[in-house]
Formats: sequence, C-alpha cells, structure tokens
Amino acid sequence: MLRVGVLAGGGGTNLQAIIDAGEAGKLGGAEVAFVLSDKPDAYALERAKKHGIKTIVVDKKQLGDSFEAELIKAIDAEKPDLIVLAGLMIMIPAQLCRSYKNRIINIHPALIPSFCGKGYYGLRVHEAALKKGVRVTGATVHFVDEIYDNGPIILQRAVEVKDGDTPEVLQRRVMEQAEWQILPEAIKLIAEGRVEVEDGVVRIRDLS
Ligand code: GRF
Repeated sequence: MLRVGVLAGGGGTNLQAIIDAGEAGKLGGAEVAFVLSDKPDAYALERAKKHGIKTIVVDKKQLGDSFEAELIKAIDAEKPDLIVLAGLMIMIPAQLCRSYKNRIINIHPALIPSFCGKGYYGLRVHEAALKKGVRVTGATVHFVDEIYDNGPIILQRAVEVKDGDTPEVLQRRVMEQAEWQILPEAIKLIAEGRVEVEDGVVRIRDLS
C-alpha cells in the first residue's frame, strides 16, 4: 500500500477530493497516512480529523529559522512513499526535493508552462489568465523539483474560460472540473505503479 502524506496550508478542498476518492475506492489502494500543515488553523486539518487521519502541525510562524529542519524531520519520521502538495504556500526545501525525488507531487491551477513559477499562486494565477485573455486554462499535476512548477508533468486537464469570468469564478471552475479530478487520478496512477519518469518526461504505462 502506498503511504501518502498530504501537505496543505489552506481550505483543503483538494485534500477532500483525495479523501473522497480513497473512500470510494478510487485511489488505487493508496492511503492518506497523515496531513501536515505549516499553519495550525488550516481548515485542511479539520477535514483530516473528521476522517480519522493523523494531523501534524509544523508551525512556520513559531519556528522561524528552524522551520525547514523541523519540516524535514516530521516528514522523514512518517516515512511516506508519496508526498502530495495540496495548497501549501511555501517553497519546498531543496533537501526534501532531493531525498524524495519523483515522490513529491503538486497541483498547480493552470496549464504549465503557462501562468506558473514564482508569484503565481492562488487567485493571482487566474487573474493573470484573464488579463492575458486565454480562452482555455486548466490544472496540472507535476513532480516537484527545486524550481517552482518545473518538474515532470503527470496529468493536465483543460477548462474553458467564459466571458464575464471573475478570478473567483474561474478558480472555482478550474477546481471543480480539473484539480479535484486529476489530483486523485495522479495518486491512483502512481499507486498502481504506472508512472515512470524518463529524461524528465513522464510516461504512463497502460496495463491493459
Ligand atoms: C488550489 O488552487 C491549488 O491548485 C493550489 O492551492 C489551492 C489549494 O486549495 N496549489 P485547497 O486548499 O485545496 O482548497
């Protein structure tokens, strides 16, 4: 069984999608072993508790300079097979990226390489998409390396931009139609051993 650790700092709707997929038997047998947050008041932690999932807080504000070391210690102690970043607003320490190479995934609310990289997070991503006037946006699940939104792409899903969209309306559509679908799907594919990385590119094996 694939032991998954979800790192979340916000409302946790992506975490909820993962939990729901697991309870519906759609995670390829992966289990959410723990939910870790850098913020003690993240609603994601409440969602985890409601489903009997272990929660861990590594309080960034309180820890200051020792935050990264404590984060690494807390994760290592759990021995996860896969780390899922679902709304964590921090840069993952380079040491973690190296020791969990191709075992950390992130969901980004745009079609990488559009609207990604430093400064593109939350509503800002959707504001930028609307400002550019793209007719299609979407979401991307990718492996995490030491550069923002840079690692091998696992899954993407496109979402239509509609006339009159506000950043909030577009964000919600991208979540509903893309993020909440492809994040659990990617975990399932990894749990089934179907995701391989070759020369920085993901190949998804067809087992049929
Ligand atoms: C999502 O938009 C995700 O793409 C981004 O952070 C947001 C987290 O939302 N990385 P939630 O906490 O899962 O509701």
